[in-house]
Amino acid sequence: MQFEIVTIFPDFFAGPLDYGIVRRAREARIADVRVHDLRAFAHDRHRTVDDRPFGGGEGMVLKPEPLFEAVESLLGREVLFGAHMDGDSNDDASLHPAGTRHAVPLPSEETPIAQAGTAIVLLSASGKLFRQETARRLAQLDRIILLCGRYEGVDERVTEHLATDELSIGDYVLSGGELGAALILDAVTRLLPGALGNEDSTINESFSAVDDVSNKADFSTSHQSPVASHLLLDYPHYTRPAEFRGCTVPEVLLGGNHEEIRKWRQKKALEKTKRNRPDLLSGNIPT
Ligand code: ADE
Repeated sequence: MQFEIVTIFPDFFAGPLDYGIVRRAREARIADVRVHDLRAFAHDRHRTVDDRPFGGGEGMVLKPEPLFEAVESLLGREVLFGAHMDGDSNDDASLHPAGTRHAVPLPSEETPIAQAGTAIVLLSASGKLFRQETARRLAQLDRIILLCGRYEGVDERVTEHLATDELSIGDYVLSGGELGAALILDAVTRLLPGALGNEDSTINESFSAVDDVSNKADFSTSHQSPVASHLLLDYPHYTRPAEFRGCTVPEVLLGGNHEEIRKWRQKKALEKTKRNRPDLLSGNIPT
């Protein structure tokens, strides 16, 4: 996987790239990360990348030219306008072949630069929510270009004509897209084959689909009947010591009965999901 990060703070990424799974994945050549200074694509003496908003208002807006030029330099081709068509979904934008044109527009055609295997992601508080399934989709690609916006805003032509995805990492406003880019880099990298060293590790974790549990409101009594798949939080984990300051590890985990352990974990995952993220069970997951 090739990650390209376009930012006005390239040094910001020294930390996130150099630890843990991301570092190991880079060393094993499972992931390659290049960081690009947006100001390198500004042409004036002051290397200006932002300007005042048309129509007035607070703050500065990132200009389109440096972002377009940065992406064009990475893709090795120019973005031609005029192919844009309206639509309300760009979920699979990068999975479609480059340059295909249809009478009924595919989502990929929302951005004229959509290229097979490449996502151009604009980080923005106004984007679609980045979730585990987004990470899974992105992990299938060859290349992800992460464009770090600033909180005041990014010229909308970047969203409309350049980005294949506009993603937010949560319902809060950050000062820029850098933290979001680092977060996406981490969440996607750990899904790449070989990144964790143990392929099972991403199967039984929070937000993995579970298809053998009940969506009944009262989990405490439920012997779960199979229903359609849900996204659940992870079950609780314990390690040694078996007793810590008077607090003991649940007996079932010490017994070695794998079927009992499986059932206990399923029940606890449901309880925790109900307690911390009832929205995951009600079907009200924000998209
Ligand atoms: N930039 C500012 N806020 C953001 C958010 N919540 N997600 C991604 N990028 C952002």
